[in-house]
Amino acid sequence: MTLQAIKYNDGKLSIIDQLRLPYVENYIPIHTSEEAWHAIKEMRVRGAPAIAIVAALALASELHKLLACDHIPLGAKEVQVFITEKLRYLLSSRPTAVNLGDAARKLNIVVADHAELPESTGRSVATALIRAAEEMLAKDIEDNKNIGAYGAKWIMANGLTVAKSKATILTHCNTGSLATSGYGTALGVIRALASANNLHHAYCTETRPYNQGSRLTAFELVHDDLPATLITDSMAAALLAKADANVDAIVVGADRVAGNGDTANKIGTYGLAVLAKYHGVKFLVAAPLTTIDLATKSGSEIIIEERPASEVTKVKGPLENNPTSQMQFETVHIAAKGINVWNPAFDVTPSALIDGIITEKGVVEKDAEGQFHLGDLFRAP
Ligand code: MRU
Repeated sequence: MTLQAIKYNDGKLSIIDQLRLPYVENYIPIHTSEEAWHAIKEMRVRGAPAIAIVAALALASELHKLLACDHIPLGAKEVQVFITEKLRYLLSSRPTAVNLGDAARKLNIVVADHAELPESTGRSVATALIRAAEEMLAKDIEDNKNIGAYGAKWIMANGLTVAKSKATILTHCNTGSLATSGYGTALGVIRALASANNLHHAYCTETRPYNQGSRLTAFELVHDDLPATLITDSMAAALLAKADANVDAIVVGADRVAGNGDTANKIGTYGLAVLAKYHGVKFLVAAPLTTIDLATKSGSEIIIEERPASEVTKVKGPLENNPTSQMQFETVHIAAKGINVWNPAFDVTPSALIDGIITEKGVVEKDAEGQFHLGDLFRAP
């Protein structure tokens, strides 16, 4: 059965609560932009594409309700202002991932264009937003499938360290069905390798401090019955040095790819890229075009979200012998009280360390001068 993290049908949105995974599969309804903002901020939903889709669909659900009970303002411009303000508010939830900004920009354009039409009304503008948000959901899944196919093909053609027919991949954080509308980006590449019978083994890092790897990626790998092993972040160097592990490529996702290819992704990604270079292992970023931000010229311009110290000093989960059906989670301290904490959620990997960026349009490699030309992806074929 396919794992569905975002459920949406005709104005009804619910998301799997990722704070309770992998112990409890509990869906929470999202009716409004405010509920979506809190779900994103608290990381009940996370992952760059998923954040954007949930925000867009939450606003669509809110408008659906207003339309159903005839509470939508009559004027097209009035509804346009309402939507623009809601999108601005949603954008303030988390700063690093660009997908939400990209979705808001596109939705604002749809709404502005629609509001200009002579026959437009408040209802028709709201309906235009709902349609555009629903299309984003469908397009993200389609894009991920293409990313998976291109990435798997590239790895089989360029990434294998020794002559063999199956690849071993290390990945970081969670980039799967839980981080997107479905299938995933980096995890989509692993899924595509597996469907083509080209996956030997997948390794996932724990991804401290939020443990997206051990909680979420491990959950997806077990769910799909893929050959996989969990390691702590500090074991990655030893794994790459281990001849019989034979890791062929490290594939990660992205929260924002700058115009020059510098990539913000989950904290720890940069360290893995340095390790890959040292060990001669390919380092690939898998991301849809919605994650590529040409307006940000290089990684130094990317704002890195800093999260609360408690994420580093405490862990949360069910007690070992506590039946998960009771849904009781306990918090445990794991650091000396009083210690200062630095908790950046992301880091920036310089493009010099990246061998390729896997997109839904294909894998972009650098030219002879070591430059990515990401702008070409946005030009009509
Ligand atoms: O803080 P998170 O869990 O939202 O961070 C997620 C990541 O860094 C992912 O790798 C990235 O968003 C890509 S998800 C397809």
